[in-house]
Amino acid sequence: MCGIVGYIGTEQAAPIILDGLSKLEYRGYDSAGIAVFDGEKIITQKAVGRLKILENLTCGGERLKGFSGIGHTRWATHGAPSEKNAHPHRNKTGTIAVVHNGIIENYSILKKKMQNKGYEFISDTDTEVLAHLLDYYYQGNPLETIIKVLHRVEGSYALGIMFADHPEAIYAVRKDSPMIVGKNDKGCFIASDVPAILKYSRTVYYVDNQEVVELKKEGMCFYSIDEEKLVKEPVTVEWDVNAAEKAGYEYFMLKEIYEQPATVNNTILPRIKGNEIVINELGISDDELCKVEKIHIVACGSAYHVGMTGKYIIEGLAQIPVDVDVASEFRYRDPILQKGDMVIVISQSGETADTLAALRETQKKGFKVLGIVNVVGSSIAREANSVMYTWAGPEIAVATTKAYSAQLTALYILALKFARVKVIMKQNQYESMLTCLQHLPDQIELLLGQKEKIQYLANRYAGSKDIFFIGRGIDYAISLEGSLKLKEISYIHSEAYPAGELKHGTISLIEEGSLIIALATQPKLYQKTISNMTEVRSRGAKVMAITFESNKLMEKAADYVIYIPETDPYFANSLAIIPLQLLAYYIAIGKGCDVDKPRNLAKSVTVE
Ligand code: AGP
Repeated sequence: MCGIVGYIGTEQAAPIILDGLSKLEYRGYDSAGIAVFDGEKIITQKAVGRLKILENLTCGGERLKGFSGIGHTRWATHGAPSEKNAHPHRNKTGTIAVVHNGIIENYSILKKKMQNKGYEFISDTDTEVLAHLLDYYYQGNPLETIIKVLHRVEGSYALGIMFADHPEAIYAVRKDSPMIVGKNDKGCFIASDVPAILKYSRTVYYVDNQEVVELKKEGMCFYSIDEEKLVKEPVTVEWDVNAAEKAGYEYFMLKEIYEQPATVNNTILPRIKGNEIVINELGISDDELCKVEKIHIVACGSAYHVGMTGKYIIEGLAQIPVDVDVASEFRYRDPILQKGDMVIVISQSGETADTLAALRETQKKGFKVLGIVNVVGSSIAREANSVMYTWAGPEIAVATTKAYSAQLTALYILALKFARVKVIMKQNQYESMLTCLQHLPDQIELLLGQKEKIQYLANRYAGSKDIFFIGRGIDYAISLEGSLKLKEISYIHSEAYPAGELKHGTISLIEEGSLIIALATQPKLYQKTISNMTEVRSRGAKVMAITFESNKLMEKAADYVIYIPETDPYFANSLAIIPLQLLAYYIAIGKGCDVDKPRNLAKSVTVE
C-alpha cells in the first residue's frame, strides 16, 4: 500500500520525510515523490522504482531546502508506475500539493467535470482530481477548501496537503485509509504508520474517519468534516525502535519467524491466570459467550487460513458451528446472520479494506463484531465492538509469520473459553490443553533450532516449477498457509488441496519428481493421508511429510519426514507451520527473491 510522511517544524523537512518513507517500504510501492516549501514556492521531486533513486536525486533531501513538506511511496492502483503518476500531485500553478493513499471511487465523474471547467490532467491517477478540486474551491482558506472537497469525493483516502501561500501549516485528512499524526519539540509529523516517525516521536494521535488535522511547527488542531474543533487523546507508542528494525537478521521475515516463541507467549501470558482463561478485555460476559450459537469468521489471505483452522478447533472443542469466509466474498453476498450469531474478523494490519468492509456490513445488519487484530489503534481495532489484540509487535515483512501464529493462539484461547463456559469440556482435558498451549513457545523454539534439514530440502527444491501441499482437516488449513507462504515470496506455483480431493482433478498435474508436501498431524486421519501419499508417489512424485515425532508410519510412506514435537492435535498448526515458513524463506533466498518485499504484494491491502 502507499505510504505517506509529512513534516513541519524547525528542522529540514526532506531528510526526515525520506527517512520516514524508508520505514514504510514494507508496505510495497513502485514509485516515490516529495514536495517541500522552499521559502517561496513548493518544489517537488519524483522517481519511479526504489526510494533509493529519489534519495540519490535529492542528495538525501539536502537539495530540497525547507521546513515543511509531504512525501509518498505509491503502490499503483490507477495508472501505471511512472513519474507523471507518482505523487505528490499539484494544481496547474503548483501552489497546492497533495499525496494520497486509497481510492477516489468517483474520480472519473469528477475528472470529467473538472475537464469541462478547463482543468488539464497530466496523470492517469484518481488522486490528481483532488489537486484540481482543491484549486477550484480555494479562496485563501485551506481548511474551508479541504472540507468543501471532502464533501465532493467518495472512496477511501489518507491525504497530506500543502498550500504555498500558507507555509505555516500542512494538512492531514483521513477516511478509511490509515493515518497517524505525531509531534515532538521540533515539529509535527504525518504518517501512514507508526514506524515512519518512531525515531522522532512516541506521542501519536490516530486520525479518525473524516477528520482534518492542521499541523504547524508548534502543534496541531483537529477538526471534524463540519469544521468543529476536536479534542483528541495522544497514544504513547511502547514499541522500541529495534522492534521496527531488523536486529541483525538479513530480512525482517527471518527476524519475525524467530520472534514467534516470544510473540506466541505474549498472546498467551496475559490471558491465563492460574488455570483459567481470562479475556475480560473483550467486554463479553461468560453468559453472553454461552449464548453464541454460530460463529462466522471473516478475513483475507493468511488470516483467512487462521479462520479455517479456527473452524476445526471451535467446532471440535466447543461444538459451535463455524462458517469461514474470505472478506471480499462475505461483504457482497448479503450474509445471513441470525440471533445468536457472532462475527469474528481477523486482521494483522487492521486496515485490510475487504475485512473492514465486512465488519461494517455486519454492524449495519445490527450484529456485533469481535476483531482479532495486531496493530493497536488500527481501523478494525477501533471500529470492532470487541478487540482481542494478538500483541505480536510490528510485523514488517509482507509475508506474515508471527502475526499468523499469534492469531492461531488467540483462536485457541477463544475456543477453550467457549468450551469452558458452555461446560463442554471436562476439567482435566481443559487443564491438559492449557498446559499444551503454554508449552507451544518452547516447542517452536526447538523447531527453529532444526533449520539445517529445511535448508537442505530448500536447496534441493528451489528450482521446482510446482509444489503441492495436501492435508485433511486441520492439516488442510495448514496446507493452505504453507502454500501461500511459498508462492508469495518464491514465486513458485503452489496449490493446497484437501488430500482426499486430489484425485478429483489436480492429480493430473503430478509427474515424475513433483514435490508434494503432506501434512499429517491428525492421528485419526494418518492412514487416509498415507493412502493419498501413496497415490502420488506411484505417479513419480516425491513426498515430504510433516508429522509428530511419535508417528513412525511416515518413514516408509514419505521420501522425507519433518518431525514436530508432540502437542494436542488441535494445536498442531502452530508447530507444523514453522518448517513450512522456513522452507518458503530458504527457497526464496535460494532464488534470490526480495523476501521482505515480494513483487506485486503489499503488507496491508487497503484498497479493494
Ligand atoms: C500473508 O502472508 C499475506 N501478506 C496476506 O495474505 C495477508 O495475510 C492478507 O492480506 C490479510 O492481511 P491482514 O491480516 O493485515 O488483514
